[in-house]
Amino acid sequence: MRTPVIAGNWKMNLLPAQAAALVNELKPLCAGANCDVVLCAPYINLPAAMAAAAGSNIKIGAQNCHWATEGAFTGEVSANMLRDIGVEYVLTGHSERRTLFGDTNETVRDRTRAGLDAGLTVILCVGEVLQERQQGITYEVVRLQTKVALEGVSAEELQRVIIAYEPVWAIGTGLTATAEQANEANKWVRDCVAELYGQAAADALVVQYGGSMNAANAAELLAKPDVDGGLIGGASLKAADFAAIAGAA
Ligand code: PGA
Repeated sequence: MRTPVIAGNWKMNLLPAQAAALVNELKPLCAGANCDVVLCAPYINLPAAMAAAAGSNIKIGAQNCHWATEGAFTGEVSANMLRDIGVEYVLTGHSERRTLFGDTNETVRDRTRAGLDAGLTVILCVGEVLQERQQGITYEVVRLQTKVALEGVSAEELQRVIIAYEPVWAIGTGLTATAEQANEANKWVRDCVAELYGQAAADALVVQYGGSMNAANAAELLAKPDVDGGLIGGASLKAADFAAIAGAA
């Protein structure tokens, strides 16, 4: 009943012309996919990616947004600006934003708020670092990140929220969570949302897995009942690999 969402996260890769070329390569490959397809591009690549994706089933997203609508925030981009140029999705709370650029649960909450206020669909990323998994506190970490980020989000707004469970130790490392680990954590996220919004809302929520998902392991991960798609970094830069993941969904 949930439509899976396969989202690429290009991170800080590709020049605008390369972004357009990759979208053009993906269009025929993803045209028949039984899932929603989203590509999250660097800000500067958004216009080229959107122009290339026009008329196809590929949607374009940004990788972050500021929490304010405008103001003295040098170097930042607001969700309103993204919306104005036609962007439909935005990532918030990606682990690279948290670990490298100082995002906290509270700033992730505020960015999520801004994205929703601007009318975007937010892909909220949560996930534990290796030490937290080894300490056995993944459950607590994922719940805390989910609960704080959703503070103030209404049940209606939740329909524009996707949550991506991404164990930080699996991102860009080639280490993938087992399908069982992914499903378990995704279920924790869903249970947490059920506590906040009720079971029906939780059952409707798309919960993705992310972390070294690739053409070879996607089918096994996506076969799990609580894994409703993927957030894909490295493999999203190769058209054949990304299309294979979308095909597996
Ligand atoms: P990866 O990245 O697929 O390269 O591990 C996932 C992500 O950062 O969203």
